[in-house]
Amino acid sequence: MSKVNVVLGCFYGDEGKGRTTDYLAQTCEVAVRASGGNNAGHTIEFNGKKFAMRLTPSGIFSGKTVAIIGNGVVLNPKVLINEINMLKENGVDVDTYLKISEKAHLIFPYHSEMDVMLESRRAHKIGTTKNGIGPAYCDKYERCGLRVEDLYKDSFKEDLRNQVAVKNYLLNCVDVNLDFDAIYDEYMRYAEILKPYVCDTISLIHRYIKEDKMIVCEGAQATLLDIDFGSYPYVTSSNPTIGGILTGSGISARDVGDVYGVIKAYSSRVGEGPYVTELTDETGDRIRDLGHEYGTVTGRPRRCGWLDLVALQYAIDINGINYINLNHLDTIGNFDTFKACIAYEIDGREVREFSTNEEFLRKAKPVYREFKGNFGDISKCRTFEELPAQAQEYVRFIEEYTGCFVKLIGTGADRECMIVR
Ligand code: IMP
Repeated sequence: MSKVNVVLGCFYGDEGKGRTTDYLAQTCEVAVRASGGNNAGHTIEFNGKKFAMRLTPSGIFSGKTVAIIGNGVVLNPKVLINEINMLKENGVDVDTYLKISEKAHLIFPYHSEMDVMLESRRAHKIGTTKNGIGPAYCDKYERCGLRVEDLYKDSFKEDLRNQVAVKNYLLNCVDVNLDFDAIYDEYMRYAEILKPYVCDTISLIHRYIKEDKMIVCEGAQATLLDIDFGSYPYVTSSNPTIGGILTGSGISARDVGDVYGVIKAYSSRVGEGPYVTELTDETGDRIRDLGHEYGTVTGRPRRCGWLDLVALQYAIDINGINYINLNHLDTIGNFDTFKACIAYEIDGREVREFSTNEEFLRKAKPVYREFKGNFGDISKCRTFEELPAQAQEYVRFIEEYTGCFVKLIGTGADRECMIVR
């Protein structure tokens, strides 16, 4: 096992990254979240209860892992404080293990209002989570964002007053007028609560690397939602790919070891945008029901389809993935036969190179290979060899196609239903 392990989603999120992290957390001493905000929702099972984590790295549940919210995260303090309280109520030692980067940008109520206003006026809706993620990243790059460390500066009041005035001016068109005093008082309360957790996480991570501590970086969202490498504009506003792990934490490229790419045996997408292998028929509905493909936080039904190996190869190349974690093998095994996309047909030509060009994706017709299903109950299989031959054949095909080893296989909903190779 190498020092810094990275866990990334390969498609549109919701691949089950929490499982890989959970597995790595058994040996890791530090868990880092580097990008995104409370648009993410990771479901974790702990002490027989289910938790929907939005910001805190799920490694914190191990009871021995330092959980770091890195500088690349956009942080909604209200959501984080609720999460802290919930963790404490469930016996998690948050005070010892949670660290928040002083450089993380804060989300304010005006960011969510801007998100709602902008989405309502878009000709082509993105289907954002309306949590203010895009507007908060806009402010970061516009250099008017307020960071966690600003909460403790004398200039905070004036800077916030200025921002509320600017945003009220922009929100005037939808009759929103935010109250500066209320926001200021609210954020001063948050500042007090969060203070013990705030530190320079960049130098802390460097210290841990020098001490040879085992680190896992928990990706949020996924490759095809990346602002640069995803299906723009139907993406999130950060880099949930390998580059975002580095810039959102301070970890250097030299220190990255294994990169785990997480996929499902089929695919899903929330929100708008092209999706080549989407099934809008009853097969798609059946995948949704069998895989319980409804949003962790919102309950939104997800769009579902077959696995897209063309897009997977792209995710592997972008991120330098060397291990695949394949989830929901049991789910796909419920079908008599199922498919995976091995090429796209575009204007009568077969291609295997992926592109996020919108016209390319709209034109692309999936070329499928069919596989035998009916795996039976595979939830008790603990080795690859125990899997039925047709399930092994599917896994081997993914490996041959991508040249990437499938190291972890999810065979059921429970934590133990996992094959490690
Ligand atoms: P935003 O990140 O709220 O701006 O939303 C942009 C797009 O990314 C929308 O289509 C969302 O549904 C999608 N998205 C954001 N976060 C996640 C996630 O954690 N899982 C799946 N989709 C997400």
